[in-house]
Amino acid sequence: MRILVTGGTGFIGSHTAVALIENGHDVFIVDNLNNSRAEVVQSINKITGKAVIFSTIDCCDFTALDAFFMQHKLDAVIHFAALKAVGESVQKPLAYYKNNLLSLLNILELCQKHQVNNVVFSSSCTVYGEPDYLPIDEQARVKQPESPYGNTKKIAEEILRDTTAATQIKAISLRYFNPVGAHASALIGEYPMGRPNNLMPVITQTAIGKLNQLQVFGTDYETVDGSNVRDYIHVVDLAQAHVVAIERMLQGKSKAAYEVFNLGTGNGISVLEMIHAFEKYTGQKLNYILTHRRPGDVVQVWANTNYANDELGWKATRTLEDMVTDAWRWELALKQNSN
Ligand code: NAD
Ligand code: WQD
Repeated sequence: MRILVTGGTGFIGSHTAVALIENGHDVFIVDNLNNSRAEVVQSINKITGKAVIFSTIDCCDFTALDAFFMQHKLDAVIHFAALKAVGESVQKPLAYYKNNLLSLLNILELCQKHQVNNVVFSSSCTVYGEPDYLPIDEQARVKQPESPYGNTKKIAEEILRDTTAATQIKAISLRYFNPVGAHASALIGEYPMGRPNNLMPVITQTAIGKLNQLQVFGTDYETVDGSNVRDYIHVVDLAQAHVVAIERMLQGKSKAAYEVFNLGTGNGISVLEMIHAFEKYTGQKLNYILTHRRPGDVVQVWANTNYANDELGWKATRTLEDMVTDAWRWELALKQNSN
């Protein structure tokens, strides 16, 4: 099938492009390169041995996107393109609402116009806020998010629910927990612009010496060891779930016009456990200090994955060791390429 991947040169989009191609699909990428580099396209081609069609387009540019839809007869869209820095969204709410919501509105309007009736959307466990129970399932109440970024995901899900109720478009929102790791080839991975905020790139950049020290934000939480707990999932497992979701829609297997699935492993890992796993599996010593809590952090969250496992027939299989060793191999490859 012919699948448009918006934000396809980004972290999750690039791994999904590879997984789609490996499953026989034709991939079309649009990205404005706001948070990624065009060379990722060559890396995708190298891994897969196939050439993806790539165009530098901003999804907020309706006319350019319309021309792209016109030119390439598409069967489905996976919409990754979004700004995702939580702290920045608090400083620049309008930029986040405009980029993340206008891009989605344009995609949906063009899907309707060009009769592309299958859409997969990147949502986030951030819509659950501080969970009322654990592991959290898809039936849990969606809360008022802490940040404008999180709110764009909540509003986007509402837009999708309403649009699928009124049009031919079917959609699946995938609520990612904490994606980490990189492709085993070390040809694609996470490439944060500026100083990273997410734990895994902070760990690998500290280990390689780009950052002096890793701060553990909070040690007095009511958790296994006082630090926050998250459900880290390998990005290649996440990518494969997109293939399953898109094929579910294309094969007419959706049970409703709009569906929502959690994508996690179901395992909670604390910040300190992640640090110790990194040290154990890579042999690298991390320079870290225990410090104050980071404002806005939920205490702990991990996914109930039963619905995704049973209904999609998908399960994350990669281990914590795979996550840290693949992330580390990618960081080493970045260093080698910069020398
Ligand atoms: P990323 O920044 O690596 O990828 C997003 C890509 O979208 C980038 O290449 C960027 O240049 C592009 N982009 C942004 N705005 C665009 C626009 N208007 N037009 C065209 N391209 C645009 O981020 P990622 O980690 O790969 O995230 C992908 C999606 O998954 C995002 O929607 C993000 O909100 C969501 N998500 C990410 C995480 C995470 O922790 N990484 C967790 C939950 C959800
Ligand atoms: C994980 C844990 C930090 C950095 C964010 C978004 C969420 C989703 C995923 C998109 C936390 C701790 C981190 C550091 C640390 N993204 N940490 N020192 O906060 O779970 O979620 O990314 O949708 O919306 O909010 O991920 O990787 O930032 O943090 O101690 O230098 O690591 O406090 O407990 P988070 P994260």
